[in-house]
Amino acid sequence: MVVKINNNMFRTHNCGVLRIEDVGKEVVLSGWVQKVRDKGGMIWVDLRDRYGITQLIFEEGKSDPADLERVKKLGREYVVKVEGSVVERIAKNENIPTGHIEITVKHLDILNSSKVPPFIIEDQTDGGEDLRMKFRYLDLRRNVVRKNLELRHKINQSTRHYLDEHGFIEVETPVLIKSTPEGARDFVVPSRMNQGEFYALPQSPQTFKQLLMVSGLDRYYQIVKCFRDEDLRADRQPEFTQIDCEMSFVDREQILETFEGLTKYLFRETLGVSLEQFPRMSYQEAMEKYGSDKPDIRFEMHIASISEVAQGKGFNVFDQSEAILAIVVPGAAEYSRKQIDQLTEWVRRPQIGAKGMVFVKCLPDGGYKSSVDKFYSQEDLKNWAQTTGAESGDLILVLSGPKDNTLKAIGELRLEMGRRLNLMDAQGYRPLWVVDFPLLEWDDNAQRYHAMHHPFTSPSKEDRHLLDEDAGSVRANAYDLVINGVEIGGGSIRIHDRSLQQQMFRLLGFTEEEAAAQFGFLMQAFEYGAPPHGGIAFGFDRLCALMGGSDSIRDYIAFPKNNAGRDVMIDSPSAISKEQLDELGLDIQGFTH
Ligand code: AMO
Repeated sequence: MVVKINNNMFRTHNCGVLRIEDVGKEVVLSGWVQKVRDKGGMIWVDLRDRYGITQLIFEEGKSDPADLERVKKLGREYVVKVEGSVVERIAKNENIPTGHIEITVKHLDILNSSKVPPFIIEDQTDGGEDLRMKFRYLDLRRNVVRKNLELRHKINQSTRHYLDEHGFIEVETPVLIKSTPEGARDFVVPSRMNQGEFYALPQSPQTFKQLLMVSGLDRYYQIVKCFRDEDLRADRQPEFTQIDCEMSFVDREQILETFEGLTKYLFRETLGVSLEQFPRMSYQEAMEKYGSDKPDIRFEMHIASISEVAQGKGFNVFDQSEAILAIVVPGAAEYSRKQIDQLTEWVRRPQIGAKGMVFVKCLPDGGYKSSVDKFYSQEDLKNWAQTTGAESGDLILVLSGPKDNTLKAIGELRLEMGRRLNLMDAQGYRPLWVVDFPLLEWDDNAQRYHAMHHPFTSPSKEDRHLLDEDAGSVRANAYDLVINGVEIGGGSIRIHDRSLQQQMFRLLGFTEEEAAAQFGFLMQAFEYGAPPHGGIAFGFDRLCALMGGSDSIRDYIAFPKNNAGRDVMIDSPSAISKEQLDELGLDIQGFTH
């Protein structure tokens, strides 16, 4: 990218633009010292800025003696300004765009010194994660990290362009709000002026965007910070960004079309990748075939149920299991005992939670070798192979237990085998829409339903009549965008009718008073002509990480938090003073300095 630099006292050009055609030009450059190489009579300095690196040269006998004095004082990351002329290099460096030229320096100014940085500021650094986070402003000087932010910026700009072209207007919604129920805990902020009362930071602008539809804004978007106090993982931060959108007078089809369009546009504009039409898959199919509501469809290895052929043969574990599920790992019949033991250990880890694993090797001679040979004849195992579609040379892996847990466990095992066998093409993007989610989720502990998406999601038209008699089987008019096994976005058609919304709150176990206290404003708004509406929110950090080829969203956030939710650079969260606590009317023993 060529960025036009204003001709000023610090620079006529940036450190990435000069080429062989510029030889002979008098230039002024400013930047950071990446490296100094002193070879006796000659000293080379690599000067770096956001745009690239340009080599400077100083020579005993030719350069100003005062400059030679100064250049010998330079250390890594000093900030300097040089004046000089562009000359052709003798030893060319084909690895960088400015590699054919260098600058014979006529004057060197040291603009600022620098302490020796705590890690090397190059693509391959010696700094560990913690150190780089503590000095994140130095980490951001590294090309690889800066490029991630540049990609994020580009995706941001393209998003705004697309949505603007499609008639969406950006509206900012408040950050100090009241709790919105989206499944996570709220971060809260005490109010000084209303002591004993708290604001909540938004988990998303959900209720506000719906109110904007009642206001007739028709198409809204916002690239917005959201806050959720939940356990952190590589793809979760306590504050993250959404591309949040809402539309009026639309059905699901139009929403999917608009946001499939946005996704295709972003991939084309920023990566030059054309995506094919996104397939659709029901939640039920995703769970049954992939054991996940965010299936990675870059490879098949579908889950198969073998209950019919595996039960009733005297193997107690299977006979007592609600579900017996298998995957076929192609070409893995030659796995050693040790490899299989390792996999068994892997599925037994608490995160996966399987009790054990049964395997069947489909041998090249047409026979079978399994861990349950005692209970199953060769004929039985052949039935398993036929049911699962396994061929000779393949390995069948089987987990059993309660249906939901076993589906999830074998879904994880499927992904692990995909990783081990390199079945996930690193360059390929396979988006899909997962649709027809259940409206409600039964919570065994609390003995009540939760909304699977959120309480404003509309039940599907076909299932609405079941709300009273069989609420658990009602499907929602909700959808998720999944790419390569990552949940990139989710949304739904909303309830716009007050009585249906009330019924939904009842199903979720809210008393009328509770619903009125929490959502009275929304219910009231629905009495003033709420249009049919629906929307979606993309996880912007996740989208950037996916498009940049990383599993970790932290790489795409300028100042992220660590897994304990801490910003180790500014050292936050931190205690506050007694005075601040008093002012807020908070009487918290032991939390003051
Ligand atoms: P949802 O809760 O599914 O929907 O969030 C939308 C998308 O936001 C991303 N996401 C996160 N990214 C990083 N860190 C987190 N902690 C985190 N939590 C969620 C995911 C997810 O798909 N208001 C609804 C949207 C709607 O109905 O329109 C909502 O927030 O990529």
